[in-house]
Amino acid sequence: MSSLSPGCGNMDQDKNRQKLWGGRFKEPTDAFVEKFTASVAFDKRLYPYDIAGSIAHARMLAHTGILTQDECDQILTGLEDIRNDIETDNFAWSVKLEDVHMNIESRLTSRIGDAGKKLHTGRSRNDQVATDIRLYMRDSIDHITSELTRLMTVLVDLAEREADTIMPGFTHLQVAQPITFGHHMMAWFEMLKRDHGRFLDCRKRMNVLPLGSAALAGTSFPIDRPYTAELLGFDQASENSLDSVSDRDFAIEFNAAASILLTHMSRFSEELVLWTSAQFDFVGLPDRFCTGSSIMPQKKNPDVPELVRGKTGRVIGNLVALITIMKGQPLAYNKDNQEDKEPLFDTVDTVIDCLRSFSDMMPNLDVKKENMINAAKTGFSTATDLADYLVRKGLPFRDAHEVVGRAVRLGVEKQTDLSDMSLEELQSFSDRIENDVFEVLTLEGSVASRNHIGGTAPGQVRAAILRARETLDTE
Ligand code: ARG
Repeated sequence: MSSLSPGCGNMDQDKNRQKLWGGRFKEPTDAFVEKFTASVAFDKRLYPYDIAGSIAHARMLAHTGILTQDECDQILTGLEDIRNDIETDNFAWSVKLEDVHMNIESRLTSRIGDAGKKLHTGRSRNDQVATDIRLYMRDSIDHITSELTRLMTVLVDLAEREADTIMPGFTHLQVAQPITFGHHMMAWFEMLKRDHGRFLDCRKRMNVLPLGSAALAGTSFPIDRPYTAELLGFDQASENSLDSVSDRDFAIEFNAAASILLTHMSRFSEELVLWTSAQFDFVGLPDRFCTGSSIMPQKKNPDVPELVRGKTGRVIGNLVALITIMKGQPLAYNKDNQEDKEPLFDTVDTVIDCLRSFSDMMPNLDVKKENMINAAKTGFSTATDLADYLVRKGLPFRDAHEVVGRAVRLGVEKQTDLSDMSLEELQSFSDRIENDVFEVLTLEGSVASRNHIGGTAPGQVRAAILRARETLDTE
């Protein structure tokens, strides 16, 4: 039946009255469009921030005399009651009310009456949602940086325990030079330290208040934005209303930091997967972090690192989604922005879970020292040390490289490591070689000789650990 029919028209108007914006519409929203455009299914998770933002806004409205203190008090009590309703599962979220903001506002009005209708004075959902997300992101960053600090501490502890443990270092995944396992763990620490810094940088730029920008141009009411900023712990009110209702840079920046972090964790994961294989057998993961195979009884699979490596894909995907959502938007707010939430929430959850799984798993790593030492003994990992030795004996480096190359070729043919060759054998390559050569050909001698800032010598690793602990203490 046509909506022009008088009876139906009245019914439609009734339906529209449920909408907070129903006034100018002649017919109800299409049922599918209602669902398609609603965000409440996912943005209800913002409720603590939406309530906090509304409380601050109401207090500012009373502070500036736009609302009476009594109206403000009713709003604050109403919002606290709603918080309680949500937390005790006494809140029916409605798709008809579109999003978290209108669900809460509508409930407020049905609870406290006219004062509830005044809460939206001088604001819009555009500045409201921008504020909610920033508050949510700020909390999420604080959670993530504290989880990151936990993992960094775990790595430093492990590095300290294994400061002297020797393993082969790789380039091109071929044995390169001996290193210490502690040094390797501290390489991971350095990556996480940069990640931590990136999240803090992002937090600084994020901590600016959009509220008061209203729909896009500001408001005609005499609001006090610095006051609201202070109530919500923002460093300042945003400078430009158009920019601040539409800006999602902070979300992109956060997701970029998260993508780099997970790229690091994916690389750690790849190493753990390799190291737990029968071919490397450098470390063992506790059974409770692994799963078996339904068909192959011998299998113990490193699922946690594999999943972390896999989840990196979705976080990078979320970054691409967010940056793509923004690229075609004219100023100011557009509905496209509603698409920012699911990728953001997913990234926050994924990052926290990945960090947590690593922090729980890494202290329980079974470090198989013997296997690592044996692996370092194969592959001529001290060949560079022999070349450096010859340089110290007066041979130019290029010539030394050639001499050692020939020695390695013999070693490959005879399947003997340089350190297992006799002095005579070694002297057949250069008469500069003397008995003291064996000191540099040992793995211990090799790592101990890399004794400068950033080197793998156990003493340097311990010094790096001390510096790391100082950084961790100041966080
Ligand atoms: N649910 C919306 C979002 O997430 C809230 C802002 C809606 N504003 C609007 N003008 N329709 O972006």
